[in-house]
Amino acid sequence: MRWKTKITEMIGCQYPIILGAFAGYDNKELTAAISKAGGVGVLTASSYETENEFRSAIHYVKNITNNPFGINFSVDTKVKPGHPYYRYLKIAKEEGIKTIITAAFKAEDLGNRIKEKDMVWIHKATTMRHAISAEKMKTDAIILTGLEGGGLKNPQQNTFLINMVNINKFLKKPIIASGGICDGKGMLAALILGAQAVHMCTAFLPTIESPIPEMWKKQIINTNCFDPEFIEKVLHFKSNRPQYTDMSMAIPNIDHFISVEELINHMISEAESLLKNLNINMDELVDFTK
Ligand SMILES: Cc1cc2nc3c(=O)[nH]c(=O)nc-3n(C[C@H](O)[C@H](O)[C@H](O)COP(=O)(O)O)c2cc1C
Repeated sequence: MRWKTKITEMIGCQYPIILGAFAGYDNKELTAAISKAGGVGVLTASSYETENEFRSAIHYVKNITNNPFGINFSVDTKVKPGHPYYRYLKIAKEEGIKTIITAAFKAEDLGNRIKEKDMVWIHKATTMRHAISAEKMKTDAIILTGLEGGGLKNPQQNTFLINMVNINKFLKKPIIASGGICDGKGMLAALILGAQAVHMCTAFLPTIESPIPEMWKKQIINTNCFDPEFIEKVLHFKSNRPQYTDMSMAIPNIDHFISVEELINHMISEAESLLKNLNINMDELVDFTK
């Protein structure tokens, strides 16, 4: 079956599955494996201390696959013209990268440079308010991360389901769903609810190609999603300030180490068998762009 969404068309990938950034680790092997398997791997720019390291990570991925991959720029208040990201963006363009994801703070100036270079600009938001403000900029698409997700969380964040049932009301640009997605069921639910792709971080963290330490991988596999302490950490954090979590509600279906290819193939075959149960002809194109 061919998967067609506004995001697969925009990025030129086979499946509407995008890697979520995680700073502090060189994720070139993971990025290459995801793109090779038909998803969209994403290098986290802040993990590369020098321009040479950044360029050689891009070369590593390009040596493994001709499929598209992207770059994440996690932005903070220090990101202004002159910041290394501006040079990294120039390198990304020189190397033929098409897709750039900005995240965390508003990234309008960097985003305008992305558009001047004729690249795809996707901005990641954790709240509907931020997604609405990202839509007013020159973004091509927006990632909206639900409360179930990992990384930097916001007290004004809502759940995946509430985000999805409201996207068409508040947003016109293509939306990429994020937060707690780890399997074909979650991916298909997001697409049926109007998202044009899914964005996943925690589910990729314990894969064989992921660069995080084994202890962290084991912790993801062994954490019980019904543990009240875990639920409190991810869903009810007691703070009115953004707070960080190192794994998300994506963990329930992660119970052993697998390769990226196995994870993506499993997601796609699960989603396709669900569609088959609905009597959808699998030889046809399933078009989610309508
Ligand atoms: C350990 C960890 C580190 C993260 N670091 C970043 C980061 O540096 N930049 C960023 O844009 N998002 C970061 N995120 C957020 C993810 O990219 C993604 O938006 C979120 O985790 C999606 O939810 P999921 O983990 O349930 O798939 C991080 C997430 C995790 C779990």
